[in-house]
Amino acid sequence: MAKPRTFNDRLFALRLERSRDDLFGVLERLYGHRPDFSRFSDDLTAVLHEAWEARPERLKWRDMERDLEPDWFQRPEMNGYVFYIDRFAGNLAGVAEKLDYLQDLGITYVHFMPCLKPRPGDSDGGYSVMDYTEVNPKLGTMDELEAVTRACHERGISVCIDLVLNHTAKEHEWAEKARAGNESYRDYYLMFVDDTLPKAYETTLVEIFPANAPGNFTYYEDMDRWVWTTFNEHQWDLNWANPQVFIEMVRVMLYLANKGLDVLRLDAPAFLWKRMGTRCQSEPEVHMLLHALRAASRIAAPSVIHLEEAIVSPAEMLPYLGRGEHDGKEGNLAYHNSLMVQFWSALAARDTGLMSHVMRTHFPPAVTNATYATYIRCHDDIGWAVTDEDAAAVGVSGFSHRAFLSDFYEGGFAGSFARGALFQVNEQTGDKRISGTTASLAGLEKALEDHDVDGIDHAVDRILLGHALMASYGGIPLVYMGDELALLNDYSYLDVPEHAHDSRWVHRPVMDWTRTARLPDGGATPEGRVFEGIAHILARRAAVPGFHGAVATEILETGQKGLFAFARRAPTGPIVCVFNFTEAWTGLPASWFAGVGATKMHDLLSDAPVAGPGGSVALPPYARVWVA
Ligand code: GLC
Repeated sequence: MAKPRTFNDRLFALRLERSRDDLFGVLERLYGHRPDFSRFSDDLTAVLHEAWEARPERLKWRDMERDLEPDWFQRPEMNGYVFYIDRFAGNLAGVAEKLDYLQDLGITYVHFMPCLKPRPGDSDGGYSVMDYTEVNPKLGTMDELEAVTRACHERGISVCIDLVLNHTAKEHEWAEKARAGNESYRDYYLMFVDDTLPKAYETTLVEIFPANAPGNFTYYEDMDRWVWTTFNEHQWDLNWANPQVFIEMVRVMLYLANKGLDVLRLDAPAFLWKRMGTRCQSEPEVHMLLHALRAASRIAAPSVIHLEEAIVSPAEMLPYLGRGEHDGKEGNLAYHNSLMVQFWSALAARDTGLMSHVMRTHFPPAVTNATYATYIRCHDDIGWAVTDEDAAAVGVSGFSHRAFLSDFYEGGFAGSFARGALFQVNEQTGDKRISGTTASLAGLEKALEDHDVDGIDHAVDRILLGHALMASYGGIPLVYMGDELALLNDYSYLDVPEHAHDSRWVHRPVMDWTRTARLPDGGATPEGRVFEGIAHILARRAAVPGFHGAVATEILETGQKGLFAFARRAPTGPIVCVFNFTEAWTGLPASWFAGVGATKMHDLLSDAPVAGPGGSVALPPYARVWVA
């Protein structure tokens, strides 16, 4: 490139230099052996430069702002909300009209569930993308996405959308060219002339959707080829060993970044690199690719951050936030799947032993330049990611505990409060995943059916317990659409042919705006109490600087198996968060709080003093306190 002249050019050159090793150094290890590596490097630099040139000035200012406050996403005022555009507001234009509602709830971050152009028919909820440069026409246009994003920015709301990296729809232009016989495009995917290699890979692969999409490969007669299809038949895995795929995805990524999006949720990154004899998940090259992608964003769209969706075991998850050589340089955000699993596990068992063990053993007090996305429900099922080793460490059998959790949340277990649906039962492994909304899993559906007043109270409290937990643990709490109104399971998906095979639709209800109309008369209905409760939790979180994502989280022992406790070790003094996972009254003496550093005995959640007579802190059923 010629010597940079303008301010813009010089800024780009500076950003390129700053991240050169993170991009090209890492890519050289992946692709350096290829004779075309230097051409690839030039092409990639050109893609970055073009994207920078095309970046609107408004966004370059946003880049500057975020250069000046690089911790913006770790701040306590970050509160997220996740929704399907059509189910929430019909279309993008509708979303623009709901921003007041989101602000009332205290939201500063929204995740629009898959909204790029999907394949026709079943598209795995939009995760089978046919065109990354167009919006799903049912939802609106790219111009509207840009406009809604700008409207969000004007209200201090950051916007996240999905970027599906592992696969495209088989109707994507690249796939169609491959199908028509174009060899360059065939190399974008993983295609095999016979089933020798697929069979060899299968011996160590797991099945993601065993019930309706068994196996990891699909044979196409017209091409006489086997294609790698980890998820559904219509989702063709990309060949990330081909540097051309890397370039194409960077182009897509920066195109979306230039529409104003702040957070890219990188879908299913664990699967990007295949290696014979392994599960082909979370291979070291995956982290190199993600490190390089992050560097590409940092160069050409610096205000953009990456959320990595790796729903894997606790030990396997942490590297997605950057460990070892990738420390501080990989995902800025990653889902804390374990916190979600352990929340439901402890609720069912009325025992937090496993939860404390997992959180203490697998997660460091803090991570560099990154934080978690915390949640208790999302659009996907709950897989019981409890390892045999972790279960054994607290004296239970992993297999039995996982089976118990499935039975409990399906609702079959005697005494269960939950209503859920099984997802992808795997006869071979005994694995049974669970679908269901927060409210139904927490007991509201059953309690309403039984006209059980105490049951309703408990369900409301369980929902609020979960939200108070995810708002204080560390990370951006993500409220899943409808949970703030305690929406129940929606069984109508069974009548929709494209959805009937996929019980995850039970917890993807259409927003019930008639419920919100009832909110003003305040708090009497379960949904009113849940809405007020969640809005309160988010507001209190935003008001407490000690909930910054960089602050260490230390798991504490209370000596009571029904209580989960941790301290956020803020420089201004610790915040001791305690959660009662049972329907029994209990308490902790003030001396216990003093012993772990909390001396003011002020509950930051209720914003009131906590110590009762005799100095002990009463903890009613499902109590949650944030004691300073
Ligand atoms: C992610 C999504 C899930 C989807 C899968 C395949 O796990 O969250 O909904 O089925 O990726 O794209």
